[in-house]
Amino acid sequence: MRARQHLKPDPKQLALNGRVAVVTGGTGAIGTEICRQLLEAGAAVAAVGHPSETDRIPNWRRGLGHLGRGIHVELADLADYDATAIAVAGIEAALGPIDVLVNGAGITRDARLVKMDPQQWRKVIATNLDSVFNATRTVFPGMCARGFGRVVNIASVNGQKGQFGQANYSAAKAGIHGFTMAVAQEGAAHGVTVNTVSPGYIETPMTASIKPQALERVLGQIPVRRLGRPQEVARVVVFLCDEASGYITGANLAVNGGLFMSA
Ligand code: CAA
Repeated sequence: MRARQHLKPDPKQLALNGRVAVVTGGTGAIGTEICRQLLEAGAAVAAVGHPSETDRIPNWRRGLGHLGRGIHVELADLADYDATAIAVAGIEAALGPIDVLVNGAGITRDARLVKMDPQQWRKVIATNLDSVFNATRTVFPGMCARGFGRVVNIASVNGQKGQFGQANYSAAKAGIHGFTMAVAQEGAAHGVTVNTVSPGYIETPMTASIKPQALERVLGQIPVRRLGRPQEVARVVVFLCDEASGYITGANLAVNGGLFMSA
């Protein structure tokens, strides 16, 4: 009986107590929910947003309620390697060495290929894919040296199946999972897991800006028959960040309401 009691999980012992987590795109809709759930799991959390967001940060922090007080925020252009390294140094100075990195920064510039200009291509590749290299390259050596790390890259269903009007975005998101599989092999012997989470169409300002006719077309293809919720993505991310998830690496977990299924 005594032994059974001993095995009961201590509710005060949260899964990510003592861990330092960074969420790029942490001020966006899905990123905010990831920050919230990481904080609830006991991590010290830093959100990285874009410098253009300076004015909305106080409100954003208030939206997180009591959890918002403890969160560290850095604003940096993650498409730029040096700016990323400066942001990471700021986080480490404030919170300590980084154990968990969630690469969630992303934008869209949708257009059919025949209308897509090189700037729309470059901007999406730089923000959605270069940023993943920049942030991971900066924190990965420290994770390997300390023998523990969790990297979760947020891709998209549209990186898996392609999407009409998203040649840039689909390419960047498919590239993210290639990156995941390569770096997972490099981190595996050092206690560092690297995984992809591929959300489908989630209730965010990004999907709210899709033209109604185009959104109707997509909704008709989702077996669960609704958009997903940011919370439904965040819980998968936090699951992968848990120390107990150490045997999952190089995986791509879909959270897409059945829009795309693969073996
Ligand atoms: N399949 C085939 N044809 C399609 C189509 C589709 N899925 N979607 C649009 N079209 C066709 C239209 O029927 C129309 O054809 P006609 O000219 O013959 O009538 C033509 O495309 C219209 O194209 P236009 O270039 O004139 O431009 P538009 O202003 O209508 O916009 C578009 C085109 C930007 C691609 C628009 O259709 C669109 O926004 N589509 C949705 C793209 C999308 O799903 N984005 C996801 C954003 S959210 C996100 O990215 C998060 C995530 O990870 C899931």
